[in-house]
Amino acid sequence: MEIIILPSPDDVARTAADAIERQLTAGPSVLGLATGSTPLGTYQHLIQRHRDGKLSFTQAQAFLLDEYVGLPAEHPQSYHSVIRNEFTASVDFAADAVHGLNGMADDLEAEAGQYEARIAAAGGVDIQILGIGTDGHIGFNEPMSSLASRTRIKTLTQQTLQDNAHFFDGSESVPNHVLTQGLGTIREARHLLLLAIGETKAEAIAAAVEGPVAASCPGSALQLHPHVSVLVDEAAASKLSFQNYYQDTFGRKPAWQGL
Ligand code: PGA
Repeated sequence: MEIIILPSPDDVARTAADAIERQLTAGPSVLGLATGSTPLGTYQHLIQRHRDGKLSFTQAQAFLLDEYVGLPAEHPQSYHSVIRNEFTASVDFAADAVHGLNGMADDLEAEAGQYEARIAAAGGVDIQILGIGTDGHIGFNEPMSSLASRTRIKTLTQQTLQDNAHFFDGSESVPNHVLTQGLGTIREARHLLLLAIGETKAEAIAAAVEGPVAASCPGSALQLHPHVSVLVDEAAASKLSFQNYYQDTFGRKPAWQGL
């Protein structure tokens, strides 16, 4: 894992956008997109670069990490709607290039299996954006998710219901169930970009990065991946024990290397 501590949330967003731009300019790419508050700044930077004529998504496909069960795609809080409104409708993806899970499928287990097959058929994810929950979840893999899990149905913890209540009309309105890529699925992406902003994420980041690999902190599963960039602002980094080491080594990294 490479841990990169940046002065501000905007630096996190810009650095993540740089990594995605580098991937896109290398050739046809498969992006893994996350919803939630954390990646919004990254999407704003990518939209701006597209508007400035510097970045095109016509050769890219994208896969979402997760989706609520029981929300129709047109519901404003479905992740289909959220990613379209926050990002994909503002750039030039080809029609049908942005893939999400269908949380209204009659057979949710079949939907999960088919989604895995669609990711594989696209050649796998090149670069995956990830946030982290205050309970350490990745995607919607809540604590005790198997580190080898595949796309499946999960029940959200009370903490996640509360954390996401601000997107809805209170926590009672947040769907209890979701479809999410599993930790085993996510770990097959070739490059993982884990983003975290703010003090509320400091404990989860410390457990994921410096704690033991354990199902009690799903983010710790990323320690098993060969190419992870953890981009955090100073507040989200505040509970890390080895901040000086991370700052020093990143400061001396060769510029040509990228993330
Ligand atoms: P947030 O959610 O970006 O809205 O903080 C992150 C997550 O729950 O994975």
